[in-house]
Amino acid sequence: MAFRSLVASVADVSTKVPVIPRSSFVRMSFSTGSSTADDMVVTKDEVVRFISDCLRKAGTTEDDAFTVGHHLMVADYRGHFSHGMNRMQMYVKDIESRLTDPAGKPTILTDFQAIALVDGNNALGQVVGKHCMELAMDKAQKFGVGLVSARGSNHFGICGYYSLMAMEKGLIGFSCTNTSPLMVPTRAKKAGLGTNPLSLGMSSGDDEFVLDMATTAVALGKIELAMRKEQPIPIGWALDSEGNVTSNPEDAYAANLMMPLGGTEEHSGYKGYGLSLMVEVLCGILSGSEFGPNVRTWKSGDRVANLGHCFMAINPEAFTSGSKERLSRLLGQLRNLPRAGEKEILVAGDPERKAMAKVDQDGGITYHVNQIKNSEEFARRMGVEPMKLRPKNNI
Ligand SMILES: NC(=O)c1ccc[n+]([C@@H]2O[C@H](COP(=O)([O-])OP(=O)(O)OC[C@H]3O[C@@H](n4cnc5c(N)ncnc54)[C@H](O)[C@@H]3O)[C@@H](O)[C@H]2O)c1
Repeated sequence: MAFRSLVASVADVSTKVPVIPRSSFVRMSFSTGSSTADDMVVTKDEVVRFISDCLRKAGTTEDDAFTVGHHLMVADYRGHFSHGMNRMQMYVKDIESRLTDPAGKPTILTDFQAIALVDGNNALGQVVGKHCMELAMDKAQKFGVGLVSARGSNHFGICGYYSLMAMEKGLIGFSCTNTSPLMVPTRAKKAGLGTNPLSLGMSSGDDEFVLDMATTAVALGKIELAMRKEQPIPIGWALDSEGNVTSNPEDAYAANLMMPLGGTEEHSGYKGYGLSLMVEVLCGILSGSEFGPNVRTWKSGDRVANLGHCFMAINPEAFTSGSKERLSRLLGQLRNLPRAGEKEILVAGDPERKAMAKVDQDGGITYHVNQIKNSEEFARRMGVEPMKLRPKNNI
């Protein structure tokens, strides 16, 4: 099943991308011949190759380029286009401005039984994140639980990637991160906390629950994507610079004022605000990184990010047996509740599984035409081979 193939990819994270003969690719641009962007896909390996090449050019090691490339590909594979290739140029820009150290390596500051504190040393966030989750997993195998807090880090991508790493070892995985201040707390009109996402995931073997969400109504990347696609955003996502709710993605992006999960106070937005603050306690407050409104503003590029993250791995078998069976039963019970309408009932992680199944069926990831154009321009700027597209399966 789709999840299995992702697990395999995550497990292979330290290995190299399989070498695919260059002649086997069909070199077609999105705009050539009768093909349109909708007919064309990019294989997962090619996505990793392209992102890795760009990062290598920017000065990272091959292994770190692969770690980030694989992570961003998984985000796109899972349908989180806001946090896949869409983020790569921001990482390159931070490296070029010397705000992220492409050669940075995380170091362990405190290592005591089930806990550790890691200094990311301003390395790429995914490099820090992978190191910390591996440490948390080792501790969970020894102590039943492992909790690792990190500071001195950068944007680490999708939280769910780290949960999946733990799930692949039969553990419950949790991760969260603070981010640049973008979210307006209930009753305020200025941003005080980030989009502060969190993820918790558990696998029952043949089924899974993977909650992976920003604690704002949506991740900022969704507003960027709406801008790219020139589409309005739903009411309740963000405010404009006057503090009014807006459906214009450009106004929202310029204002950087995201609403907490829930939206207005009447719609219990204070609960999203509380969750965001909870993430900040586990990230900035616990690790000693920047926190809340003190984190650099989004894309300001005026100083290093010094973000904080938190990772936890739990071995359910250390508590009592049968947890997988109980999870499997619960997920089935939830999906089989009477429906309010036509649409099937999902559990968190199902939309991502559907996205992955579609990619597998198509033989690659379908990118929006503007993303393809943008990556072609970026390839020219970086002097790397552009991403190769191939026709979708069965077209
Ligand atoms: N690193 C960062 O700074 C940062 C910041 C914000 C978000 N992110 C990442 O961005 C990604 C997108 O976040 P988001 O909040 O926009 O996600 P989202 O709103 O698309 O999904 C949130 C969660 O809801 C679940 N879900 C969706 N529809 C459902 C349904 N009908 N029934 C049950 N569950 C359902 C999904 O499986 C997912 O677990 C995440 O991977 C997150 O980690 C990263």
